[in-house]
Amino acid sequence: MLQNPERYTITAALPYTNGPIHIGHLAGVYVPADIYSRYLRLQGRDVLFVCGSDEHGVAISMKAKKEGITPQEVIDKYDGIIRKSFADFGIAFDNYSRTSLPVHHETASEFFKKLYDNGDFIEEVTEQLYDAKANQFLADRFVMGTCPKCGNEEAYGDQCEKCGSTLNATDLINPKSTITGETPVLKSTKHWFLPLDRYDAFLREWILEGHKNDWKPNVYGQVKSWIDGGLEPRAVTRDLDWGIDVPVEGAEGKKLYVWFDAPIGYISSTKEWAAREGKDWEPYWKNENTKLVHFIGKDNIVFHCVIFPAMLKAEGSYILPENVPANEFLNLEGNKLSTSKNWAVWLHEYLEEFPDQQDVLRYALTSNAPETKDNDFTWKDFQARNNNELVAIFGNFINRVVVLTNKYYNGIVPTPNELTEVDEQTLAELQAYPEVISSSIERYRFREALGEMMNAARLGNKYLADEEPWKVIKDNPERVQTQMYVALQIAAALSSLCEPFLPFTAAKLKRILNVTSSAVEMNWKAISESSDLLSAGHQIGQAELLFAKIEDEAIQKQIDKLEATKTANQAENKKVEAQKDLIQYEDFAKMDLRVGTIIEAEKMPKANKLLVLKVDTGIDVRTIVSGIAESFKPEDIIGKRVTVLVNLAPRALRGVESQGMILMTNNAEGKLVFVNPDTDGVGNGETIN
Ligand code: MF3
Ligand code: ZN
Repeated sequence: MLQNPERYTITAALPYTNGPIHIGHLAGVYVPADIYSRYLRLQGRDVLFVCGSDEHGVAISMKAKKEGITPQEVIDKYDGIIRKSFADFGIAFDNYSRTSLPVHHETASEFFKKLYDNGDFIEEVTEQLYDAKANQFLADRFVMGTCPKCGNEEAYGDQCEKCGSTLNATDLINPKSTITGETPVLKSTKHWFLPLDRYDAFLREWILEGHKNDWKPNVYGQVKSWIDGGLEPRAVTRDLDWGIDVPVEGAEGKKLYVWFDAPIGYISSTKEWAAREGKDWEPYWKNENTKLVHFIGKDNIVFHCVIFPAMLKAEGSYILPENVPANEFLNLEGNKLSTSKNWAVWLHEYLEEFPDQQDVLRYALTSNAPETKDNDFTWKDFQARNNNELVAIFGNFINRVVVLTNKYYNGIVPTPNELTEVDEQTLAELQAYPEVISSSIERYRFREALGEMMNAARLGNKYLADEEPWKVIKDNPERVQTQMYVALQIAAALSSLCEPFLPFTAAKLKRILNVTSSAVEMNWKAISESSDLLSAGHQIGQAELLFAKIEDEAIQKQIDKLEATKTANQAENKKVEAQKDLIQYEDFAKMDLRVGTIIEAEKMPKANKLLVLKVDTGIDVRTIVSGIAESFKPEDIIGKRVTVLVNLAPRALRGVESQGMILMTNNAEGKLVFVNPDTDGVGNGETIN
């Protein structure tokens, strides 16, 4: 591990410009990366924080097809939205680039050329999936099918999002074109492959041995299982019309695989920044004393921990990442976030609907960050975090300090008298926070770090609540001078300790405390070494609310919005199946359908889906095994009137003979419901015809 890096290169995954940024992206990648970068800058380190738009790949082409516009129009639209929303949200990139820029096309082409010239690729003609109707080869997101590893039926041609496996399109079972829905055929085509198997020993030594203890277990585990599963050559070119041309002879019409070019985008972004700032980009990528850290979501682990490092290693002149602190996923109100299903809280919409409340979202996302497991964002939790924590603890403390200082001393920091043991103790505790918070941040534990920052605010809140200067003022004004002096030191420390997490709040608080001028030293070192951050005689400003309460109506509005999305999705999903082939009346008449009543129900042991029912069919009471256990509790369906097919040949399910079938359908929400005849006054055994 690099002990005292000279500089830091921090990257945040380049978002695809096929949609705006949502809270899942923020919680997983951009907020933690921003906290980390801001923290390092505050410590006076040399930090470069880069990102940019990922503008190639099938995701973009698909979006263009869907919207009936060109890929260029798609990327221009979303690059604009994304870029602006990041800036408004306070993600402080040193540079936000685009992979469609010439600097990136050149950098990626050169990179490919160098590996090609080194003989690092295998050139091979293989059979690839081809959609004859669309006249197009299918790879990546142009093809879906069943994952050979976990059975997920909606795996993509390059990756299964369910189990995280990285796939080749030809691995998919029962592949289907996402363009036409056709089953693809095989057609031969030439491509270049990066032989990952050649990097097995390097990856094992570098990660499995070298980073056993400092990489997050979720990241380490995924990499290990990938390497242990056997590394295979991986195609780095594609037959597509959108992307970077493969810069070698005999590759006309072919493009670089998006996962080959995109991570090189970090390097191009660095070059763009350096050119603008008049700096040298190379130390940030080639100097051994540079600490490179990639912030990504868990679906990007393999690309950043195996494929990109193998590329960097092959190229030979680059450093490797010191850490890849990937997060798990954030869900929204119990469901997976989804751009295509519009199940998201979109950043640009949040910024409009909650103006000047960036820090509330940053706070809610960090306190609930999916650092070790998937987590759920709910609007109620968001509201509670704001009202019960930011407003009630942090905001309340600051407000009391500022109001009282203005009231008692016209806003001038009073001269303290003798410190009591409680004062000494409180200031000593305060001085410990920079170290505590740093240590969590350095280990990528941002929610823990934020919790400690809030503990510093709690310390202040408790101090005032215990000391009650508003009561003491009557009999002992000298004591209140000391109390307010101590409280002001805590407020001052908070204005800096909160900066990585809540940058807008930090700026506001500094303004209120009148410590924006560079004359006032307030770095974390000062906080841990001095208990005189705001000296007697310093003039502070007027009170302003740091945080505002969020009312129920504002939250309800958001919940209603999500409900509307759900309803819209259901309407869209209601695929009405085509009518089956015609049958004759005689065919229908063969079915003996009766009205019956469920009289007993219990779960089939060791089966999740099955219920064993006793049904009174009017003819008899018989056993029917029904696959409805995930939708109904046994006790809730006893007495239900149902439609039963009574002459279906018996069949044994898990050793229990099922003598018939109960008719079911789906309601608007996709839930199973009984086909319930209007049976008032109809006896069991009545036939349905
Ligand atoms: N666009 C990819 C995604 O959203 C991330 C690319 S990260 C990079 O999943 F390294 F390739 F840039
Ligand atoms: Zn899978």
